[in-house]
Amino acid sequence: MQPVTQPNGRRAAKQGGEEGQNRKSNQHADANETLSGSGGGEPRRLPCELVVHDGHTQPGALVRADQPWGDAQLAELYDAFVFDGDLPLFLELAREQGPRVLEIACGSGRVLVPLARAGYDVVGIDVSAYMLALARAKLSAAALTARLVNADMRDFQLDEADFDLAIVAVKSFAYLTERDDQLRCLRSTHAHLRPGGLLAIDFMHPLPDWVSAAPGSMRDDLLQRVPERSFTLSRVESVVSTDLARQVRVIRSAYEIIDDRGAVVAKRFVEWPYRWTYRFEAEHLLERAGFTVEAVYGGYQREPFTSTSQAMVFQARKTATRL
Ligand SMILES: C[S@@+](CC[C@H](N)C(=O)[O-])C[C@H]1O[C@@H](n2cnc3c(N)ncnc32)[C@H](O)[C@@H]1O
Repeated sequence: MQPVTQPNGRRAAKQGGEEGQNRKSNQHADANETLSGSGGGEPRRLPCELVVHDGHTQPGALVRADQPWGDAQLAELYDAFVFDGDLPLFLELAREQGPRVLEIACGSGRVLVPLARAGYDVVGIDVSAYMLALARAKLSAAALTARLVNADMRDFQLDEADFDLAIVAVKSFAYLTERDDQLRCLRSTHAHLRPGGLLAIDFMHPLPDWVSAAPGSMRDDLLQRVPERSFTLSRVESVVSTDLARQVRVIRSAYEIIDDRGAVVAKRFVEWPYRWTYRFEAEHLLERAGFTVEAVYGGYQREPFTSTSQAMVFQARKTATRL
């Protein structure tokens, strides 16, 4: 990858500061101890046999949550399935827009770390202390600097409002299941961009086959050997329910960690609601939040958006007023 960034020297966030508080912080009270130690240094790897329950759901192997990555063990599995097809687009947008980049729902740093490595001045916010701990460890291992803020994308307030580019990658907006939450997120984002700044947001394109999948049907079957941890990870997603009126699907992801002898050493299920957004609904939302939609791409190479596109990536510019 590319040259090293310089420290950004930015001020602390108003909302609880770096690794600050958010509405779920009490659920993560001992998470930082478990993963990163009291000094906030390198996260300690959880042995894969250990099943950690965060207490935000019932005990047992099933987690019901508003998103999977607030759970320690699931967060640890996030990077096992490698995806980087969107990185060239985000790096190119940063080159075009300017050095100050805000990544909303930055997670374990899949996008944020390459941006920092390319020399951009990056701030990432995420609601999951576990995901941020992973991002922090990657930055520290690569001697890179980026500011990480533990905050909810529905309502965040940083001291800076001069970002050139904001990114919401890989369908993270779908965790916002209410239109008020969606609007608050877009308005908060708008408030942090400089006039003329750009938002790039990657929505799922809700193709008819996906929307009409019957309860019980299996989707998105992934299997990956993780050599550095000597296990194989399987993830199968199935449809629990689909509410067409709310545009919300409850998805069940079943994770299995399998050792090299073929024994399942851990199995977790997580059920979480996913809100899909249609193209013109997204346009209206973005416009209400004060953006002007410049482009809708059907893929990460800026392909035209068509009825069969697999992705729906918006490029929206901050304009003066909001409705
Ligand atoms: C699919 S991951 C994406 C992470 C990263 N942006 C990437 O592209 O790999 C979704 C992230 O959204 C975060 N998230 C979910 N709901 C959130 C919220 N309300 N506020 C902030 N982050 C949230 C999760 O903690 C998780 O890290």
